[in-house]
Amino acid sequence: MNVARARADFPALRPHRGRSRIAYLDSACMSLVPDPVLRAMEEYYSDFPGCAGRSLHRFSEEVSRRYDAARDAFAEFVGTSASEHVVFLRNATEAINLVASGLDWRKGDRVLVSDQEHNSNLVVWQRLQRERGIRLDILPLSADGSWDAEALERALSRKIRLISLFHTSNLDGRSLPIREIAERAHDRGAQTLFDGCQAAPHRAVDFDRLGIDFYALSAHKMLGPTGTGILVGTPQALSKLRPLGIGGETVQWATLTDHELRPPPYRFEAGLQNYGGIIGAHAGLRYLQRIGLAAIESAQRELNREVTEALSGLARVHILGPEDARDRPSIFGFTIDGIDPHDAALFLDEGWGVLVRSGMHCVHSWYERRGLTGSIRASFYLYNNRADGAALVHGVRELLERLPSRPEGPRPASPRGRPARKARIA
Ligand code: ALA
Repeated sequence: MNVARARADFPALRPHRGRSRIAYLDSACMSLVPDPVLRAMEEYYSDFPGCAGRSLHRFSEEVSRRYDAARDAFAEFVGTSASEHVVFLRNATEAINLVASGLDWRKGDRVLVSDQEHNSNLVVWQRLQRERGIRLDILPLSADGSWDAEALERALSRKIRLISLFHTSNLDGRSLPIREIAERAHDRGAQTLFDGCQAAPHRAVDFDRLGIDFYALSAHKMLGPTGTGILVGTPQALSKLRPLGIGGETVQWATLTDHELRPPPYRFEAGLQNYGGIIGAHAGLRYLQRIGLAAIESAQRELNREVTEALSGLARVHILGPEDARDRPSIFGFTIDGIDPHDAALFLDEGWGVLVRSGMHCVHSWYERRGLTGSIRASFYLYNNRADGAALVHGVRELLERLPSRPEGPRPASPRGRPARKARIA
């Protein structure tokens, strides 16, 4: 299998029902699914639609075998030694919530997040601040993507209990040096949680060697179906977490007055699970591995380099994060002076079949502080090719040509008074 031919395996990209060519550049939100993922899910529902770990009949036996195989495969993929370190959840947001609500907090415990976190890694801690009296410390990040180890040292001097950071930013594509962060954290007695949503689809993680405590990811950003996510944790870290919810399949035994929880990861997976989804996510993982993450990342780097080169010199276009595309291979985030990001996104979709995301990308705090209400984001994955990059570049150029020659200055998207189609977009 070859990254250059991957596009053909994705039904959503095939011209059908008169639809013209699509350049899908929103994989940071969710990736598309290839045929083998759809087949795996269809096979589950048509050939062995049972629940895992309960009944003894043939359907149940088969789904149990496939569910266990998926757990083994994800454990190997993230570089952890045992499948019991992998908890299946709905998404990375649920994984972060599980850690936030599951640790035994004491009033005054400190959590450190960066000033560029997705809401999933911010508002959960704000709630703990209000409800449990924890302290939330903010690590400032540079605008150009450079890493400031001193800033981390200063933050750690305040006796942090947990550091919770993105691995790769969904806003500008920069990555943080998580091995170094984990080492410094552990020297100071802090635990670490990394949001790997934008990193795991593109690069090997090697969880055990990184020496981190928790790692969250969403399989629907790496070719899996929606609503599939994972929390990876060390046995020590998982054993201290209180489950978000308990019930069927989470207990060893129960009487009318008491129960004993099963060991991790089973105590965290209450009730009937998304077997079809996880089996599909496993097929997506196999597909990714057949092509190879290194080949995928190198193709994306090249595509992003071309787009960056074509658009970076243009007046009014401002690229977010690192200047060099190699430092943000999967993401090209930008603003255009004088145009509402949502208007730009609609123009690119309607005029050029280019599907990007616009708005605040669930990082409201970052835009609020800058007085901006949005940016445009093109995010790349293995099915994108040079034609997709060219469509984006041509679309942006045409948009610039149509703008009045003297921009009134940045006119960010206003949350009020948008047309109906834009009102839902954040
Ligand atoms: N779904 C979020 C995004 O699109 C993470 O950036």
